[in-house]
Amino acid sequence: MCGIVGYIGNQDVKEILVKGLERLEYRGYDSAGIAILNDRGLHVYKEEGRIAALREVIDLEEVANVGIGHTRCATHGKPSRRNAHPHQSNNGRFTVVHNGVIENYQEMKRQFLSQVSFASDTDTEVIAQMMAYLVEKGLGVPEAFRQLLLEIKGSYAIALLDHEDTETIYVGKNKSPLLIGQGTDFHVIASDAMAMLQLTNQFVELMDEEMVILRQHAKQITNLRGEIMQRRPFQVKLDASDMEKGLYPHYMLKEIDEQPLVIRKVISKYQDASGNIRIDSELRNSLKEADRVYIIACGTSYHAGLVGKQLLEKVADIPVESHIASEFLYNRPILSKHPFFIFISQSGETADSRGVLVAIKQLGYPALTITNVPGSTLSREADYTLLTHAGPEIAVASTKAYTAQIAVLALLAFDQAQAQGRAGQMNPFHELSMAANAMEIMINKKEMMEEVVWQYLNASRNCFFIGRGVDYYVALEGALKLKEISYIQAEGFAGGELKHGTIALVEEGTPAIALVTQSSVRANIRSNVQEILARGAHVCMISMEGMEEGTDQIVLPAVHELLTPLVSVIPLQLIAYYAAKYRGCDIDKPRNLAKSVTVE
Ligand code: F6R
Repeated sequence: MCGIVGYIGNQDVKEILVKGLERLEYRGYDSAGIAILNDRGLHVYKEEGRIAALREVIDLEEVANVGIGHTRCATHGKPSRRNAHPHQSNNGRFTVVHNGVIENYQEMKRQFLSQVSFASDTDTEVIAQMMAYLVEKGLGVPEAFRQLLLEIKGSYAIALLDHEDTETIYVGKNKSPLLIGQGTDFHVIASDAMAMLQLTNQFVELMDEEMVILRQHAKQITNLRGEIMQRRPFQVKLDASDMEKGLYPHYMLKEIDEQPLVIRKVISKYQDASGNIRIDSELRNSLKEADRVYIIACGTSYHAGLVGKQLLEKVADIPVESHIASEFLYNRPILSKHPFFIFISQSGETADSRGVLVAIKQLGYPALTITNVPGSTLSREADYTLLTHAGPEIAVASTKAYTAQIAVLALLAFDQAQAQGRAGQMNPFHELSMAANAMEIMINKKEMMEEVVWQYLNASRNCFFIGRGVDYYVALEGALKLKEISYIQAEGFAGGELKHGTIALVEEGTPAIALVTQSSVRANIRSNVQEILARGAHVCMISMEGMEEGTDQIVLPAVHELLTPLVSVIPLQLIAYYAAKYRGCDIDKPRNLAKSVTVE
């Protein structure tokens, strides 16, 4: 939920750290801080709020070649300057930034630090205080750091400075993402390669329960038993310009617009020279052996998983259950004899999903991760990975990752159907490319969605989204998009369920958005709409060509019925975007949220 950076080299470190933090702001933006170390001492600058606020308090005169930084999404302790990282030991010697959660910090306080008065409400401060405690007991700093990491239970990506040593950064990692980047005369630390891409594309991956002693020209990676680990760097193939928003006012709008391109990219990545689906044969066979698929994900990725369930069941005839990761972890259903797990995660770092992955790997079950981030934790730890190729998604509200996930799930389902000899006449690449064209048509009608916002959501405090079948799943996603960025109370409902309770909420002027893209239930959803119209609801109808009626506000170009979510979600994303814009909300960084949720 937070992002950390570090640099040790021969350049002035302040701007490098702050630029890096700006690129990690998607991971949290409650407060930010940096610590820089030079021969005049340690200088800590931190502020509540965005990186822009941190910039204001940095002393530009102070030059240093080593430093660490942090952008925070509060977990322990409310957002405030007091709880902002870096945190220091009371003797001023150790300064730390940390992403993760130290589950046993209260025990550590009780057991070792009962005499220490703490300056913050965070779990992180215990790291700096514990380092001081261990060094006072006579341990050298590297050994104290190793002992500290052995003591900590939970997740961490840590960078620590020792005031008395301007040539070293101590780094530790467990469960939280962390990379070491390298150049000819520097090393960097980052929660995400994006933060340091302007300096290098050569990174070294750290494994869980590893520590690094990092210097300008050297790094020593060891496990917590003290054994030295050799690790080759890999090249991150990301273009720094992918992360710029160019002339767009918001990343979210840019990312919505990119979706047709992303679907075309998915097609090109998964189509081989003979026009077949390019999927690893081991993955194909492993999935073929499964008697049931369990899809595990959170939030928007979970909504893509619901669509994926429909695709795998209808196309490949495999029974599928979709589960919210945080529920599955502590309330596991009875599993079938030969389960196959699919994890869907834009970031590939979501702790709830990872918790399930770790648990099912212990049971020996096969797992596939569908993710946007190559080399992410969920990708590394699963047996198989399918990439979504959507490019960096910066806006906190997920858009292009969702549609890319659905496209990949569609190809997986078709590949499986072919493997089982049950594929019909449908050419998935052709159908996906038709869907990309239809998405483009809707993206070019933005004024229509702006108009919907004026007409239906202008002064509204709530909104219902309704649909049946796969339209219900898209309704859930439409509601999530609207609530997370505009703060309008929004809920998605299965049309047929309204009369079982929810309809009691409908009164004169209640806005509702209804989806009609599935021929088998078109009459049913229209009669559900009549039920709420009769109670005064103000309903915006979004239907698909061939199913439209004269009064429908938005008509989507027709695409294959299994792929309608790719198109029907576009107006919902844009409605959410314009609703948030007219309310003056911070669209790319909605309150209380972070892009990558690396704590349970
Ligand atoms: C909503 C959104 C979140 C994420 C969820 C899972 O717009 O982005 O609901 O979908 O936090 O994140 P990933 O996909 O990274 O596992």
